[in-house]
Amino acid sequence: MHLTDSLHFASDYPLRAHNTFGFDVRARLACRVETAEQFVLATRDARAAGLSKLVLGGGSNVVFTRDFDGLVLLVALAGKRLVSEDAEAWHIEAAAGESWHAFVDWTLDMNWPGLENLALIPGTVGAAPIQNIGAYGLEISEHLALVRAVDLASGERVEFDAAACQLGYRDSFFKREGRQRFAITSVTFRLPKAWRPRADYADLARELDARAAALTPRAIFDAVVAVRRAKLPDPLVLGNAGSFFKNPIVDAATFQILREREPDVVGYAQADGRVKLAAGWLIDRCGWKGRAIGQAAVHERQALVLVNRGGATGSDVLTLARAIQADVQHRFGVALEPEPLIR
Ligand code: EPU
Repeated sequence: MHLTDSLHFASDYPLRAHNTFGFDVRARLACRVETAEQFVLATRDARAAGLSKLVLGGGSNVVFTRDFDGLVLLVALAGKRLVSEDAEAWHIEAAAGESWHAFVDWTLDMNWPGLENLALIPGTVGAAPIQNIGAYGLEISEHLALVRAVDLASGERVEFDAAACQLGYRDSFFKREGRQRFAITSVTFRLPKAWRPRADYADLARELDARAAALTPRAIFDAVVAVRRAKLPDPLVLGNAGSFFKNPIVDAATFQILREREPDVVGYAQADGRVKLAAGWLIDRCGWKGRAIGQAAVHERQALVLVNRGGATGSDVLTLARAIQADVQHRFGVALEPEPLIR
């Protein structure tokens, strides 16, 4: 098939620009994928035979601890469109390789609001369902309608509706059973026409108050961008993968005991009665904010974010992460689970 010829495989490919920690690792083989067909062709190519495969979007949720001895599929599928519109909602589809932030910005330009709270999240559209990205009071699970993917084992095209994606807090089918088996090719969102501002999250409410602007989707987008810029490091300046740990969820009794010992512990009640703890607070309280082991450091303004000050390796970051986990476990009896994929 002639498309095979258009696939270009590169050997010993540098991944530094393809992971937001900026780790200087290499892939045995890499291939840029622009269409769903190319996912199939690339995985069936003789050069890929027997190699493990890694689908890589913006590399904003991965920690490479060593070179990748396999085939990296660099997601470059492009395109976004209005699929349909009815009295209640717009359905918008974007290809997996589109930049998430640029996509959100575009939906607002088109007057299709709903994703504004998720401005400035690094990475691609295709990565968004994998960890059910969420920030400032909104998760994409609220608006996700359909995920199209290629089954890398069979080469078949598959569709997942929202239920099949099994989206949970920083979790999905694609992060568990479907891991590395399905390459997401596009995501479709349902954006209801009955728009309501989502502006309760403390940092966001404060920023919007300070701006005293009308609560439009664009005003929320701008405020989210400002809050994120103030707290979170720009990966282009200081390598990082956003929050390094998930916020741990504990039962109500455990939270009560914790609060008796630490009256200002930060926790958010969940619908099921459990409590989500702010891992950033736990880490901060253990005195880790701004501290470093070698060139791997805890961010000065957000203790949940680990950064590469330059020249750190994935193993350095894991060493730091383990020291933090041990301290938090020892002081609070709470286990912290890393959020990004560790390779
Ligand atoms: N806190 C501290 N010290 C710190 C950091 C946080 O005391 O160093 C306290 C804050 O004062 C606040 C609470 O912890 O009371 C929560 O902090 P923040 O609002 O910054 O949010 P977060 O729980 O640390 C989560 C997400 C972020 C998302 C923000 C906003 C996770 C793992 N992280 O962070 O997502 O942007 O809420 O919604 O759920 C990401 O996943 O990469 C990410 C950045």
